[in-house]
Amino acid sequence: MSDQTLSNLSREERRFEPPADLAANANVTEEAYARADSDREGFWAEAAERLDWGRKWDQVLDWSNPPFAKWFVGGTLNASVNCVDRHVEAGNGDKVAIHWVGEPEDDTRDITYAQLKDEVSRAANALTDLGVRKGDRVAIYMPMIPEVVVAMLACARLGAPHTVVFGGFSADALASRLTDCEAKVVITADGGYRRGAASALKPAVDEAVEKTGDLVRNVLVVRRTGQDVAWDEGRDVWWHDVVDSASSEHEPEMHEAEHPLYVMYTSGTTGKPKGILHTTGGYLTGTSYTHWSVFDLKPETDVYWCTADVGWVTGHSYMVYGPLANGATQVMYEGTPEKGRWWQIVQDYKVTIFYTAPTAIRTFMKQGREIPDGYDMSSLRLLGSVGEPINPEAYIWYREVIGGSRCPVVDTWWQTETGQIMISPLPGVTAGKPGSAMKALPGISADVVDDEAHSVGNGNGGYLVLKEPWPAMLRTLWGDDQRFKDTYWSRWPGLYFAGDGAKLDEDGDIWLLGRVDDVMNVSGHRLSTTEIESALVSHPKVAEAAVVGAADETTGQAVCAFVILREAAGDGGPDIVEELRKHVQKEIGAIAKPRQIMVVPELPKTRSGKIMRRLLKDVAEHREVGDVTTLADSTVMDLIKTKEGSAP
Ligand code: WT7
Repeated sequence: MSDQTLSNLSREERRFEPPADLAANANVTEEAYARADSDREGFWAEAAERLDWGRKWDQVLDWSNPPFAKWFVGGTLNASVNCVDRHVEAGNGDKVAIHWVGEPEDDTRDITYAQLKDEVSRAANALTDLGVRKGDRVAIYMPMIPEVVVAMLACARLGAPHTVVFGGFSADALASRLTDCEAKVVITADGGYRRGAASALKPAVDEAVEKTGDLVRNVLVVRRTGQDVAWDEGRDVWWHDVVDSASSEHEPEMHEAEHPLYVMYTSGTTGKPKGILHTTGGYLTGTSYTHWSVFDLKPETDVYWCTADVGWVTGHSYMVYGPLANGATQVMYEGTPEKGRWWQIVQDYKVTIFYTAPTAIRTFMKQGREIPDGYDMSSLRLLGSVGEPINPEAYIWYREVIGGSRCPVVDTWWQTETGQIMISPLPGVTAGKPGSAMKALPGISADVVDDEAHSVGNGNGGYLVLKEPWPAMLRTLWGDDQRFKDTYWSRWPGLYFAGDGAKLDEDGDIWLLGRVDDVMNVSGHRLSTTEIESALVSHPKVAEAAVVGAADETTGQAVCAFVILREAAGDGGPDIVEELRKHVQKEIGAIAKPRQIMVVPELPKTRSGKIMRRLLKDVAEHREVGDVTTLADSTVMDLIKTKEGSAP
């Protein structure tokens, strides 16, 4: 982040006090910070009491073997019971759990907690019949339909960790995840709706399963679009054939608090995605508590809507586990943001709490306020943001245009690894500053440090670290304890390094400044530069590749690639750029497709051969190229810039 941006941010002086009525009735008040400070474990134990336990824990936290944490040791619970059964038992069976809105107009379903319980039980029975046992991994590759929630909860019920793979990922990406966690069963659909058209999913599963040999025994397929699918009689099973006819009675087993709940793959700084492991008791405690406190959820009256896809951690923590554990009523929408459709949904369902990403807000800003102004959104009372820093302009627009200047905006910082929101305003307590995620939540300990792990103090920038374990923290990387230690805990002993730069302002509030490692953030999705580089180099015409995230007005960052072609490929032919973009899409998925690819004769390298991405970033962001004195060959940048000038 440039000094210019830093000083611009520090000049931001607007403050938004919590609305008086919200503050007066807030779920959490100021005293929570002090209470958590004086007894952190007691604080989280109290949060855990909000759940139903089979057996209560003997020990809140076992941190005797850091960085491997164990929370609620000795306790047992079932995540699906906490998300559905207990609400039915409490007399809320008729309450709507999910107002599902399909992409095609008028394709909607309301699902009550009682219906959800029956469906989850049926699916759990069907999975059992397919041989799924506690501990087996099940992959889920599905569109945003209610069955994806049912599938996740059915796995949780059985204690079979799920790994949900975003439907936009390629067959190759799916295959590598299936292999890494050795999934026995894949749950998918024939297809889903995307921008008005049916888009197939099953062919990618077929291809992925093929690549993994005889690992996957069954593919369970939901009929969503009705499109034709290839069928393997011995392996493929229709959801409606086995789930619909299964019994809606299912006796749940109580699992140990540390039993694996799911694995979510996310990009790291190397080519190989990391399998983030979350377990049951701490994760459910952390997500349900933060969903209740940060969004000030009133389960009786609120209608909550998180626009994230279930294929990302936000969908797991704040669409499935947090809200359902809290017995919330929520909206789930199959499609992507389009003009007025979101606001129509807010109006139709009288949404009160709305949680989305800055990239979506900036897209709507570009389209103009006339569109949202055409809808009645007076039901909204609280707005949330997640995924990347929200710039003050987008924050103000969100607050004024979507929130009618009456709703607090909570900018929530967290990660796939943290599982739960870590840094955020509390809507009934905090006077929000546009662009700042403010303070660590009660029970969370964060700081900004310098290279030597010293606190930078107010007014300074450095690296964001977390100082104490928290309930929903990742427990390890699937099958790779060493990489878990190396990635997060090795830079400074005893501190979790998040990979983000941050600044403390004069009041000690935290401003997130983006990643400081080789990880990009495109539309709030995490992508690894190295992973895209390996995808490019796997193309026969490419000799070398370097990828950088360049600033982009809408998506935050955009993927920009610089490639050197192999001699034999000549100039690569007229369609080389498109060919390579498609190749990346095939290897990883459409989200990773570079916005720009430049074919260059050389890449800037230090004498030790390290690519200086900083200089490439200057080119991609059309800036004066910075200091080149450490380059092995200082004329390289001139060659690259000449290419840029001549690019079509
Ligand atoms: C990275 C984590 C958390 C769910 C979505 C992304 C960035 C996330 C914020 C925020 C500034 C943010 C960070 C973080 N990030 N939220 N409110 N302000 N930056 O999860 O894919 O695991 O990415 O997203 O850089 O490290 P993820």
